[in-house]
Amino acid sequence: MRMVVTTAHKPDQQQVNRAKSLSVQLECRYVPRRHFKPIKDEVVIIVERDGISAMKDGKRLFFHPSLAVLRKSNFELGQRDYLIESLSLCGNEKVLDCTLGLGSEAILIAHYLPEGKVKCLESSKIIKMIVEYGLKAENLPDWIADASKSIEILEGDYKEFIRNTEEKFDCIYVDPMFEHPELKSTAMNSLRPFADYSGITSEDLEIMKGMATKRIVVKARWNDSIFEKYRFDRVIGSLKSNIGYGVIEL
Ligand SMILES: C[S@@+](CC[C@H](N)C(=O)[O-])C[C@H]1O[C@@H](n2cnc3c(N)ncnc32)[C@H](O)[C@@H]1O
Repeated sequence: MRMVVTTAHKPDQQQVNRAKSLSVQLECRYVPRRHFKPIKDEVVIIVERDGISAMKDGKRLFFHPSLAVLRKSNFELGQRDYLIESLSLCGNEKVLDCTLGLGSEAILIAHYLPEGKVKCLESSKIIKMIVEYGLKAENLPDWIADASKSIEILEGDYKEFIRNTEEKFDCIYVDPMFEHPELKSTAMNSLRPFADYSGITSEDLEIMKGMATKRIVVKARWNDSIFEKYRFDRVIGSLKSNIGYGVIEL
């Protein structure tokens, strides 16, 4: 994937410095914003005042924890949250989130794990970088800043990770890109051009069963093939949102 780094308009010196060092890290060109001209198929990394964003195919990806904020407040108002329910956390677990994405669910999991840890994997370099920078921003709500302290993010394919680690986890969570996407989801639409679309296999699940001690949870739409292909002890979720969480108890 060809990349170029620039800044937002009217950058301060800190932004320029960050953009230059990011271009070294990513081994790509740095172009000052005033000289910047988009080139077809090139991913543009933009260093903003308080984070970074990426543009591809006219779609802009940036970190925004609003979904995590909404889900936490709904949960605290007494609404069900099927992710939290399906993981049945005690609060001190070690969780592997195989598919970080925009990090909303990792943030929620970490918040309900006051003494636990969440290790997250993301195979897209760009998505990983944006979420990692986003979680370090200064203007985050306190509870997200606290949750982020127990989140570790690694760049990599979870399929490789699970085949090469000796590490054990209490719970493993996987949220692959849906087979039948919800094109009305603005958050997911911005992620799509950068995302890895690999699906979960029965061999992945078998390996995970040897790595986790409590449960494995897989998220999918009700009409995705996952819930037909693999055996789950239960699937919970809302028919209205068309999203289910399949649970394998260990
Ligand atoms: C549906 S999104 C996850 C959304 C996430 N649960 C959230 O709260 O934002 C799926 C993410 O997993 C990543 N992904 C897909 N397959 C992967 C793999 N094999 N290894 C690591 N990351 C993967 C995609 O690039 C994408 O960012």
